[in-house]
Amino acid sequence: MTSTVIQNVIRCVPRITWSTLRQCSSSSRHAREENSSHKTTHFGYETVSEDEKAERVHRVFENVASKYDLMNDLMSGGIHRLWKDVFMSRLRPSPTTRLLDVAGGTGDIVFRFIQHVNQSVGGSTVADDTTQHSSHIHPYDITVCDISENMLKVGQQRAEAQGYQGIHWVCGDAQDLPFEDDLFDCYTIVFGIRNVVDVEQALSEAYRVLKPGGRFMCLEFSQVKNSSLRWVYDQYSFNVIPPLGQVIAGDWKSYQYLVESIRRFPDQESFKEMIEAAGFRCVKYENLTFGVVAIHSGFKI
Ligand SMILES: C[S@@+](CC[C@H](N)C(=O)[O-])C[C@H]1O[C@@H](n2cnc3c(N)ncnc32)[C@H](O)[C@@H]1O
Repeated sequence: MTSTVIQNVIRCVPRITWSTLRQCSSSSRHAREENSSHKTTHFGYETVSEDEKAERVHRVFENVASKYDLMNDLMSGGIHRLWKDVFMSRLRPSPTTRLLDVAGGTGDIVFRFIQHVNQSVGGSTVADDTTQHSSHIHPYDITVCDISENMLKVGQQRAEAQGYQGIHWVCGDAQDLPFEDDLFDCYTIVFGIRNVVDVEQALSEAYRVLKPGGRFMCLEFSQVKNSSLRWVYDQYSFNVIPPLGQVIAGDWKSYQYLVESIRRFPDQESFKEMIEAAGFRCVKYENLTFGVVAIHSGFKI
């Protein structure tokens, strides 16, 4: 895609309609379907074709979107907020950081980005009518990209309710990002990459769209090494989360997928090696809450 075309796409994103997003999502999926072979992969503990995984992941997030934020709070007892706060403090964004948040869903990371920058430049962290929020937000260059129209829609509604303006909401696939090369200072992906069918391809796309010197940062569920703690964590995950999903969101299966997909994702060291294989340098990770989640980061040098 030429630079002119992409600039036009970016410019028109805030005016994007939901029918446009639907077209964008289905054309993105169709492109993947054409390229994809009949290779198998995992969907939680099931073995399925890659196409089927993509469809089912898409369906999961379309289904849970309206209850996604509530469920996050209930499942984690609010701890996901602390993890995301730590993640943002490690990122240490500045007002000029050009951010791409992939699999950004309902906007938690970009909202934190804005709050963090406002705080660090001495502005208000609260975006309401009394704080002239628009003047804080407009200079920022922030894009959320997600494959689910419903998740993006909830994100846009939250942004409007909280007075955050100027965020670009783009429907797209992490494996085939609709952005030109060398565009962003920072690529973030939070609780998103384990849902992607081809993680290597997503990492390669992350590398492509980052500017030289740009930073990749990922927050993802990881592996608890201590066996006693892991037993407790497994009991909680398998016995509490799917029933909670059924009660709150009427959806046992999506939350069963969530806990199974966490167990299928590579451990800290293996994921670090995958990031290095994609070309990133100075790759490191930090465990939070005994490795329940980990922050991985690397640079395009
Ligand atoms: C668990 S949610 C995380 C949302 C958000 N980052 C957060 O932390 O609250 C996972 C997100 O990944 C998105 N997703 C899954 N596969 C994707 C893909 N191939 N490309 C882009 N987004 C994808 C889903 O639509 C969903 O919004």
